[in-house]
Amino acid sequence: MASISSTQIRGNNPVAEFARTRPPQLGLRRSSRVGFRVSASETKGPEPDLSVTVNGLHMPNPFVIGSGPPGTNYTVMKRAFDEGWGAVIAKTVSLDAAKVKNVTPRYAKLRADANGSPKGQIIGWENIELISDRPLETMLKEFKQLKEEYPDRILIASIMEEYNKAGWEELIDRVEQTGVDAFEINFSCPHGMPERRMGAAVGQDCALLEEVCGWINAKATIPVWAKMTPNVTDITQPARVALSSGCEGISAINTIMSVMGINLVTLRPEPCVEGYSTPGGYSSKAVHPIALAKVMSIAKMMKSEFGDKDLSLSGIGGVESGGDAAEFILLGANTVQVCTGVMMHGYGVVKKLCSELKDFMKQHNFSSIEDFRGVSLEYFTTHTDLVRRQQEAIQQRKAVKRGLQSDKDWTGDGFVKETESMVSN
Ligand SMILES: Cc1cc2nc3c(=O)[nH]c(=O)nc-3n(C[C@H](O)[C@H](O)[C@H](O)COP(=O)(O)O)c2cc1C
Repeated sequence: MASISSTQIRGNNPVAEFARTRPPQLGLRRSSRVGFRVSASETKGPEPDLSVTVNGLHMPNPFVIGSGPPGTNYTVMKRAFDEGWGAVIAKTVSLDAAKVKNVTPRYAKLRADANGSPKGQIIGWENIELISDRPLETMLKEFKQLKEEYPDRILIASIMEEYNKAGWEELIDRVEQTGVDAFEINFSCPHGMPERRMGAAVGQDCALLEEVCGWINAKATIPVWAKMTPNVTDITQPARVALSSGCEGISAINTIMSVMGINLVTLRPEPCVEGYSTPGGYSSKAVHPIALAKVMSIAKMMKSEFGDKDLSLSGIGGVESGGDAAEFILLGANTVQVCTGVMMHGYGVVKKLCSELKDFMKQHNFSSIEDFRGVSLEYFTTHTDLVRRQQEAIQQRKAVKRGLQSDKDWTGDGFVKETESMVSN
């Protein structure tokens, strides 16, 4: 596998020091779940550079189409490149698409209004969709055509196979011949595929994961990202295994195991297929805070255990605004993927994402993504440490309030502050 650029999470980040000491930016509104907005008067200054180079792959911006319906065929992937997405990850492919049988309905939405009013904002999305049900030959032809028409754009193939070394090797070989730039390995689809010992069945079993990653990394000659499932107790464990087994990057998160709801009239679960359902994968806005927590723990682990290696991290989950993306980058992500957001808002949303991310960068005088990548990571600590910090701060405030205990305590350097400490208002 190629391991080229030096875009890993840095052990010693000078920007972190800068961010710690600089005064708070007046007028900046924090990213919110409903979008990040900065007014025109707040956005003066030179244009920030959104481009990133990840594992040697150059992208015009960090926004990547996440594997799923938005990368399902030539027409939609071409559209993604034309609209300006930084990279495209195609829908997951396997050797034998004939074994992939989808059902309908396969999506269910959660709306923010009480009683699931059809007017409420969509905050959660469940799917029981499988990987691509299109013949591998067809998908390979389309990858090849896209790479011929867009040689400078990054196309990543998402792949998944059964527990079979020869199968993985054949798939890697055939997909690489199309000229794709990297692989993302789907170790994380939570429904359907685990029944065939695929997807999350591998990502949830560290011994199996290590073995399969070994096969993949011995064969692949392009960068490999391992896509992690959040449906585990500690996501850093499989992420560590994937990186130790030679993967160049981690993508997180895939969908969260969910049951969207039970119809209180029919008493049947949703999405309902011939009266029955199966737990599916949860995505969209509601998963963003969970995804941030998972990315934070992976980034901390990568920084402390793999700090000097050229590894990458791709943040995924509920991104709909530039502020949502900035949060992933502040935690150490090199790129940010969007799947459900594209299904709801279309491919053109990338323009809004780029302009909102630029506005955020202008506010802070960040000129590049590397200027702020990982800056917020150091502000996570243990609860015990929070208690210690708070007790220390209270003691300091009390000491200031009490003022000098005796006239012998007056100093020359601190004289003005010491005077202030004894003023009543
Ligand atoms: C309908 C649907 C199909 C998906 N199919 C795949 C897939 O084939 N391979 C994969 O790795 N992830 C798949 N995902 C997961 C997404 O790539 C992504 O990890 C997850 O949805 C969280 O991001 P989001 O909130 O931006 O959608 C799918 C998601 C949805 C909603």
